Amino acid sequence: MKDSDHTSEPYPHEATKSEPLKLKPEMGAEVMDKLSDGPHSGPVIDQPSNADRQKEATLAAAGGGGGKGADTVPFHKRIGPDGFADALKKGVRAVRRNLMFVMILTLGTNILILAIPIYLFQISDRVLTSRSVDTLVMLTIVIVGAILVQTILDSLRRFILMRSAVEVAARLGAPILSAAAHASLQGNGKEYQTLSDLQQVRGFLVSGTLISFLDVPFAPLFLSVIFLVHPHLGMIVVSSSLLLLVIAIVNQKMTAKPFAEANMAQSRANMHLDSMARNSQIINAMAMVPEAVRIWGKDTAGSLTAQVRAQDRNIIFASISRGARLLTQIGMLGWGANLALQGEITGGMVIAASIIAGRALAPIEGSIEGWNSFLLSRAAYGRINDLMRRSRVRFERLVLPDPQGRLDVERLLYVPGGTKQVILNGLSFHLDPGETLAVIGNSGAGKTTLGKMLVGSILPTSGSVRLDLMDIRNWDPRQLGESIGYVPQDVQLFPGTIKDNIARMRDDATDADIHRAAVLADVNDMIAALPHGYETMVAADGSPLSGGQKQRVALARAFFGKTRLLVLDEPNSNLDAAGDLALARAIQHAKDNKITVVVITQKPSLLKVVDKIMMVADGNVALFGYRDPVLQKLAERSASANATPQEISS
Ligand SMILES: Nc1ncnc2c1ncn2[C@@H]1O[C@H](COP(=O)(O)OP(=O)(O)OP(=O)(O)O)[C@@H](O)[C@H]1O
Ligand SMILES: [Mg+2]
Repeated sequence: MKDSDHTSEPYPHEATKSEPLKLKPEMGAEVMDKLSDGPHSGPVIDQPSNADRQKEATLAAAGGGGGKGADTVPFHKRIGPDGFADALKKGVRAVRRNLMFVMILTLGTNILILAIPIYLFQISDRVLTSRSVDTLVMLTIVIVGAILVQTILDSLRRFILMRSAVEVAARLGAPILSAAAHASLQGNGKEYQTLSDLQQVRGFLVSGTLISFLDVPFAPLFLSVIFLVHPHLGMIVVSSSLLLLVIAIVNQKMTAKPFAEANMAQSRANMHLDSMARNSQIINAMAMVPEAVRIWGKDTAGSLTAQVRAQDRNIIFASISRGARLLTQIGMLGWGANLALQGEITGGMVIAASIIAGRALAPIEGSIEGWNSFLLSRAAYGRINDLMRRSRVRFERLVLPDPQGRLDVERLLYVPGGTKQVILNGLSFHLDPGETLAVIGNSGAGKTTLGKMLVGSILPTSGSVRLDLMDIRNWDPRQLGESIGYVPQDVQLFPGTIKDNIARMRDDATDADIHRAAVLADVNDMIAALPHGYETMVAADGSPLSGGQKQRVALARAFFGKTRLLVLDEPNSNLDAAGDLALARAIQHAKDNKITVVVITQKPSLLKVVDKIMMVADGNVALFGYRDPVLQKLAERSASANATPQEISS
């Protein structure tokens, strides 16, 4: 295994160099057991429970902090692969199983429904001719029983379908959201819409269309009964069914395009609505409401127009097929009467055959009407399937000892998909645990892109980012995430209290951990000054916090837990002088705690507290080294090229 090659290399850190790889075969099972016991283990969450991790952390700490407690270090635990494809398979299997059962019930209902025409036939041909009340009573008792059973079976199958739909939603909701969240890293955020695809599939499972689909296979049963009555009548129904089939195909061809257009326009309108909700302040401040409404209206109108076009055709075809069905029944009555006149069949048979024909054709008609929703649901399922299978590449990974914070960046190249623009061009550097680096450079130099790569939120086209010698792609994602603190350039907080935000929304976070993170980030005083302190509720847009306060809470969030690598993307862009000082102190705290820090900044004030400085220009390292020589070089540069005074002159 390639991963273990790295791990067995001697580390330059005390924590790991004495640790040989010990893999116990039963560990996988043990982890899986824990997964299913943990408080967070719904049917789908593939992470070890937080309680477990905490226990490990405590054990590790008890083992001497340096990781020397050989038996207790959180090491060599395997997490199973993310079972998205498995979850899907299980969900599909459950539905299939239920559908099998529903099929059996459907067989029952369809056979029992034959009781009505048989009853009619018996009454007209036996009871009325023999004038026997006893026969009539007997027949009625039997038919009432049959109808009762039929009703029960029919409602049973609807109950089962409804429960299957709920089961699908319950089983797949969380895995889909989880897979979408993972996939959105490389995607465009559209992945989250897969959840509404699940709604579509769920809706289809309880729709009348599915019932019609299930009934269709029994049409031959009814047809053969009609053939038994008289081949002529059978031929009429068969040709009518074929006609309905042709209508269905033509309908599908004629409506597919406008329905697709309608859906596209609708999803555009929804996306626009989303962005309106996110930018409501801008829209109001700059009086852009009419424009926003117009853009939304254009897409919505487009969707509605296409919808009308499609539905028009759909209604026409549905009417044609309904007409065809009624005409078929009339034709059967007429021709049947003719046959009866010739003495080939009885009047009761004619009526019975006509009713059976209606019963045989109804599901075909229902399928035609619901064809569009079937197509939509099939496409929705296709997208779900796609997402879940694509996410399967998340194979199992060794959980390594918690990192020390050594960072190696090797020949990072980044060319965003679909472009030829090289944004990072073979950038390399190295930081030892506990070192602090300031990254400076002009706007558009690629600093934010580099920062995102360091935390693994975008993947390099080539080259690698290694934390403790291991490529971050090969770390267990949860463990890596807990070891990383990131403050992005545009800070967003989650709706919840400040406490929740600092704790990264974890419900097993202790108050002590939260307080520690706040103290490390030097925001305790600021939070204490708020009327509700740590319990202050933050809205989705960050209110009531100011921009600077938001940045500082985000800094505390970055410090939370076992952070070994901090990446701060212009964390002081909104800070005042006091905030700047607090940030400098926070970086000092990080240094004291041996946390590796990469801070991207445009302000000179921060440069005083870092060990090293890197200047990025055109996606490459223009200058890199210890602080003072780099500052000196920068000063020389700005002195010689007086025409372009650098902001950074110290
Ligand atoms: N996904 C992307 N697709 C295409 N180009 C991109 C993408 N992301 C970033 N860029 C381009 O990469 C360059 C570097 O962007 P980046 O955000 O890293 O700059 P920066 O150094 O952080 O600038 P600033 O100081 O303004 O924040 C810019 O020219 C930007 O247009
Ligand atoms: Mg930037």
